[in-house]
Amino acid sequence: MGLTTLGVVGGTGWLGGALLRPALAKGFVAPGDLMLSSRSGKATGFETWPDIRFTTDNAKLAAQSDIIILSVRPEDIGTLDIDLSGKLVISVMARLSAAALKAQFRTSRIIRTMPNASAEQGLSFTPWHATADCTAADKAFTDGFFGCSGKTAALSTEGELDYFTALTGSGPAFIAAFADAMIQDAVSRGVPVEIADGAVRQLFLGAGTWMAQARETPAETVRIFTDYGGTTAAGLTAMAAADIVTPIRKGLAAATEKAARG
Ligand SMILES: NC(=O)c1ccc[n+]([C@@H]2O[C@H](COP(=O)([O-])OP(=O)(O)OC[C@H]3O[C@@H](n4cnc5c(N)ncnc54)[C@H](OP(=O)(O)O)[C@@H]3O)[C@@H](O)[C@H]2O)c1
Repeated sequence: MGLTTLGVVGGTGWLGGALLRPALAKGFVAPGDLMLSSRSGKATGFETWPDIRFTTDNAKLAAQSDIIILSVRPEDIGTLDIDLSGKLVISVMARLSAAALKAQFRTSRIIRTMPNASAEQGLSFTPWHATADCTAADKAFTDGFFGCSGKTAALSTEGELDYFTALTGSGPAFIAAFADAMIQDAVSRGVPVEIADGAVRQLFLGAGTWMAQARETPAETVRIFTDYGGTTAAGLTAMAAADIVTPIRKGLAAATEKAARG
């Protein structure tokens, strides 16, 4: 039996699907070159590509794949008793160091990555860090694969990857917390919750789209609005006086520590 190019352990899980569907749709991965494993044998979410192989046998997946993506939850890593020696192992998992992966799977070609919840929409930011033994082809594959579901960046240290686990890996939930604070404020003033919810979601979509394309940095935008001196300036000044920065820094510090501590 020939080698599959890519095996994804936990590939039918939430993130696996969100990453794989864009890569399949863009033709970066051929369905016939893909094998996905799960515990339950689940195969939903990939009906468009009948040539994909599914298994519950990780040893079979390991034997037939040159590149293995690990996409199980961190607490399930101990259930994977497979020898991946000589293969490229790409992890999307939070809190698992390259040293731990190297020891468990007996390969020194490890690339840690940190996609986020916007992958399915092609809007993830996915930083990655490769160990010294990874080849140029390993890095090109990784950058190309994650490039199908958003932007990528090569990081020079693993510590930075732990930081980005907080900044952009957990980031969508932090933005949700900001949005929820605005919705709660609107509801406390008597705005019907469905109107508040729709308004704030649309606000974040519009503001995010605009910010992604704007020539000004976010700091310049804040300054422009503050200098204008209108209602937005009144709001920004009050938020700054109440210290909007410290809670964000504390949240990022706590998430980074959790990411690095394992
Ligand atoms: N969700 C995110 O936004 C996000 C962002 C960045 C990184 N991550 C990382 O992505 C990883 C996966 O997260 P997720 O949200 O996709 O979780 P998930 O939906 O629970 O998917 C995990 C998958 O792993 C499978 N699995 C568990 N043990 C297995 C085993 N021994 N062999 C084969 N498959 C096994 C599960 O199979 P069954 O369904 O059959 O049980 C499940 O399909 C985590 O490590 C997380 O840190 C997630």
